[in-house]
Amino acid sequence: MKITIRLIVSLIFVVALVAVVFSFYQVSNENDRLTDELKRRTIILAESLQETVKPLVHSNSIPKLNRIVERFGNRERLKGIIVYDNQGNVLTSTPDLMPKISQPLPDALSSITENRPIDGFITIDGRRTYIYVLPFSDEEEITGALAIFHDASYIDVRLKDIWENNLIRFLTLSALIVVITLLVVRWSITGPIAQFAEWMRELRAGKGKSKQPIAFSRGDVLAPLISEVTHLAKSLSIAHAKAEEEARLRVQAEALWTANRLKEHMRVELGGKKLFLISNREPYMHIQDGSSIKCITPAGGLVTALDPVMRACDGVWIAHGSEDADRETVDENNKLRVPPEEPAYILRRIWLTKEEENGYYYGFANEGIWPLCHITHTRPIFRLEDWVYYQKVNEKFAEALLEEIADEESPLVLIQDYHFALLPLLIKEKRPDAKVAIFWHIPWPNPEAYGICPWRQEILIGMLGADIIGFHIQFHCNNFLDTVDRFLESKINWEQFSVERGGHITRVNPYPISVDFDISASERKDIIQRKEQLLKEIGVQARYLGVGVDRIDYTKGIPERFRAIERFLEKYPEFVGEFTFVELGAPSRTHIKRYRELMTEVEEMVDKINWRFRTKTWKPIVFLKAHHGHEEINRFYKASDICMVTSLHDGMNLVAKEFIVSRDNEDGILILSQFTGASRELRDAVIINPYDIEAAADAIHLSLTMETSESSERMKRMRAVVKEHNIYRWAGNLITDLARLRAADISG
Ligand code: G6P
Repeated sequence: MKITIRLIVSLIFVVALVAVVFSFYQVSNENDRLTDELKRRTIILAESLQETVKPLVHSNSIPKLNRIVERFGNRERLKGIIVYDNQGNVLTSTPDLMPKISQPLPDALSSITENRPIDGFITIDGRRTYIYVLPFSDEEEITGALAIFHDASYIDVRLKDIWENNLIRFLTLSALIVVITLLVVRWSITGPIAQFAEWMRELRAGKGKSKQPIAFSRGDVLAPLISEVTHLAKSLSIAHAKAEEEARLRVQAEALWTANRLKEHMRVELGGKKLFLISNREPYMHIQDGSSIKCITPAGGLVTALDPVMRACDGVWIAHGSEDADRETVDENNKLRVPPEEPAYILRRIWLTKEEENGYYYGFANEGIWPLCHITHTRPIFRLEDWVYYQKVNEKFAEALLEEIADEESPLVLIQDYHFALLPLLIKEKRPDAKVAIFWHIPWPNPEAYGICPWRQEILIGMLGADIIGFHIQFHCNNFLDTVDRFLESKINWEQFSVERGGHITRVNPYPISVDFDISASERKDIIQRKEQLLKEIGVQARYLGVGVDRIDYTKGIPERFRAIERFLEKYPEFVGEFTFVELGAPSRTHIKRYRELMTEVEEMVDKINWRFRTKTWKPIVFLKAHHGHEEINRFYKASDICMVTSLHDGMNLVAKEFIVSRDNEDGILILSQFTGASRELRDAVIINPYDIEAAADAIHLSLTMETSESSERMKRMRAVVKEHNIYRWAGNLITDLARLRAADISG
């Protein structure tokens, strides 16, 4: 209210000031104008009267003079006339006037003596009167004077009117100012502020979260404040929501990990430190596509899992820049910020020569360690030159990483996979304060199988440079400790699951990797419509749809899967023309002979099976040989009745988990190999031995004929598992374990 009164008083004061100044000006102007007019009229009258009066005075015709004076004395506003002789004596006068004027009249005497007109104002009967005295003469001397008395009080009345009118105007204006100010202040300031205060009060009490703040038009006086407070309120709401969410999660036995929680957790655990991640495969690849450059995300679980972690944590990801347009898209330090559409972390690319790539990646990593660890009846090949390149490239990555962490105190380093077995020791030798973990994304074999590697000790020693070695499942941890026990001099603590060697302790723990369970990313759509659309696109008419998503790799059991489909159609002919399986197969490591052979084998099998069963409008297998993006894969996941994962051996297999995340309609069956890490968690899948073709065929039949109520129950349970055991939990656990290592443990 105070502000309103202040506003009104100020406005009225200004208006009053203006009114007074203008009134003065107007009154003075009017006064001048009326006075001038009065004088002009009196002078004209005096001069014209003088012509008549002068001869009569000369001839001393007093009666005539009396008549003239009487006649003129009756005029409006004319008070009277007096005629004087040359001594200043009254010759004649308007009758009423004489007693009111003291004689002799000084102005008359002065006018006669000085022979000039004299005028002035006197008061008669309390009213202002204008007096004008005009002397007249014959040829030689003054013969008399004529005095005219004119009422001037009407001027005062007029001036008084002006003051009164202006006062009324001022009062009206003041009243309007009061009313308008009150209304404007109420509409534009006090009203909205009161509303706003109420909204904030509700917000504070946790009630107003869903309400929108009052909308203000642009340029409104309160608009900037509103935008700031709205911002504040939003943060408050988010904080409220987070607090509520945390509280809810605390009640649950184990809290749910989210990207935000991981981010917050990292902030607390690392105190704002960055994360350094090393992998061979880069998360974003730039390829030449005609004249333009295309950015794609590679197939494979590692990138699927770790990209969301880096998005949440920020940091530097060091990887091999393997594609033809990779060099054109980095800066002078070989870096770029990714993901391209929403940059969140730095990707630093390492360039390898053809020889290095052949020896380290295709040779030692993928022809040596990969089959060594997977045990899928593909013989590992160990060449000395590959081993030399493997060491060289590990050193190259170590150099790059050491450069990146040069200014960081106790940096956190996460090394990925079998391409970098030697990297942990290379880093720890130079930076004992670094906290280093290596996560092995593939299985670890038993000591007998591992023992065929000519450099079995060097690999183990390199890995044991790490503070933490992670595998997907406990079984692989056990295999690793058995292997160390067999081939190295060391102290193994089977209770703690750690290895002590040369005073340095390495913990060996299971961290089952997972995917991002982002519910908001999946939208509900009519599943039947979606299936029809997809079948139309691939040119097949069918009732049931199955899907497989793989890199074309001999560990994935793709021929076994197709054999099972063939057997299923043989055994259950009623599904001929009804069931189609779509294989989304990404060519992989095609410079390796075994992979090329596999591709040929797979294509020939598809041809053979299709040739055997196909009809005009239907075929059992559609092999889409290409690199498929997440979105496209998701369309197939969502539309399919079953998804088949038939790996002969797999560390985890994230296709299984991605399929489950995509099934927001809570239906669909997962057929899952018992030789995947995922089968330990996803117990509600239809578990198979992919080598057992008969049983696998039956599993397809079981899945396609399963009651919806059962399949939906199974899917619900699996979704709950993946939701809880998501990628943020994996990263949260691994990073927490690493960050909490004590300095004494890591320096060894
Ligand atoms: C597996 C490995 C990853 C690898 C991925 C794709 O998941 O564990 O390290 O990145 O396959 O293979 P690629 O050779 O194409 O990187």
